[in-house]
Amino acid sequence: MENKLSKEKIAWLVEEFKWFHAHPEISYEEVNTTARLRENLTKLGIKILDLPLKTGLVAQIGAEDNAPVAVLRADIDALPVTEQTDLSYKSVNKGKMHACGHDFHMSALLGAAMLLKEDEERLKGALKIVFQLSEENPGGALKIIDTGALDDAQVIFGIHSSPVLDVGETGISAGAVTASVDKFVITFFGRGTHAAHPEEGVDPVFMAAQFVNAAQTIRTQNISPFAPNIVGVTKINTDNLWNVVPEKAVLEGTVRSLSVADRKLIKERIVSLAQNIGAAFGGASEIVWGDGAPPTDNDVTWTEFAARTAQKKGLCVVPAPHTLIGEDFAYYQEKIPGVFALFGTGKSSALHSSTFCVKPEALPLAAEYLAELGAGALKILNQS
Ligand code: NI
Repeated sequence: MENKLSKEKIAWLVEEFKWFHAHPEISYEEVNTTARLRENLTKLGIKILDLPLKTGLVAQIGAEDNAPVAVLRADIDALPVTEQTDLSYKSVNKGKMHACGHDFHMSALLGAAMLLKEDEERLKGALKIVFQLSEENPGGALKIIDTGALDDAQVIFGIHSSPVLDVGETGISAGAVTASVDKFVITFFGRGTHAAHPEEGVDPVFMAAQFVNAAQTIRTQNISPFAPNIVGVTKINTDNLWNVVPEKAVLEGTVRSLSVADRKLIKERIVSLAQNIGAAFGGASEIVWGDGAPPTDNDVTWTEFAARTAQKKGLCVVPAPHTLIGEDFAYYQEKIPGVFALFGTGKSSALHSSTFCVKPEALPLAAEYLAELGAGALKILNQS
């Protein structure tokens, strides 16, 4: 399979990318985005599966009967960020921006779908093309999984735009390339009193301060210093006056890890520290834990395939850049082996920043790469 986009098709793809960039919609609100994708796929003659999804969609190219099934996935949602670039196609939706490159991901996948459709007769199985809703406000991947559309899938691939890689570079590594992202809310309960008479109360601010320090000992005392983990307290609130000891102090924060075992241990230690600190200083604590996506987990054999395929397409393969951002692609990998690759879109400010941008010249490279991954994976699945 050639998997090469003509000049005209590249121009069309870039126009689509610019349209998606200019019309960002945040998680669970991707109505116009989904409509545009449907319109394009329908024009290309690609079948869209009938699924109970309000936004996002799954399309299918290739055989339907007991053939191998591979999945290509892109996310489609934007962020509540006000764009501050000078791009001619900057966001027209106030306070919303494609600041994480999902406009790039979906345009690239659209290009890949077009290429694969053109070569449909030669495909050795079925490709499910996932345009996933709501990655940023996680849960979108689970919504797609819940439809059952991927129950027969044998391998899955996804890419993410990388602002630390040049166009033509791709970051591919086995194992975890993004972190688990959990949230915690801890309330320390004390007894309020006049600040002039602390002996008559129990101070929850003091407990919160002890906790913030103690929580950092998890990384230094309980976990290998070679393992990347974050225990971050990012918010403390007492809703109180300056001269009163409050009734309670509420902390919020995040735990990020590339290791399933470390993630579990950190949670246990945080719960234990909060409970013991509350009790030790005459108060109490309550912990609400919010499990986010697990770390991604790139399959070793398929990672080798993804790297080989990238080289075949003339891309420069480098190790995935280190990061502890999260990515709900990891939910698919709990069920389906696969690879999440970082794709160079040119040096830019950080993902999620108001000046983040993607170089459109990376688009045909990504589209052709995704098409090659899909077609190549089906060939391998047929041989095994
Ligand atoms: Ni993203």
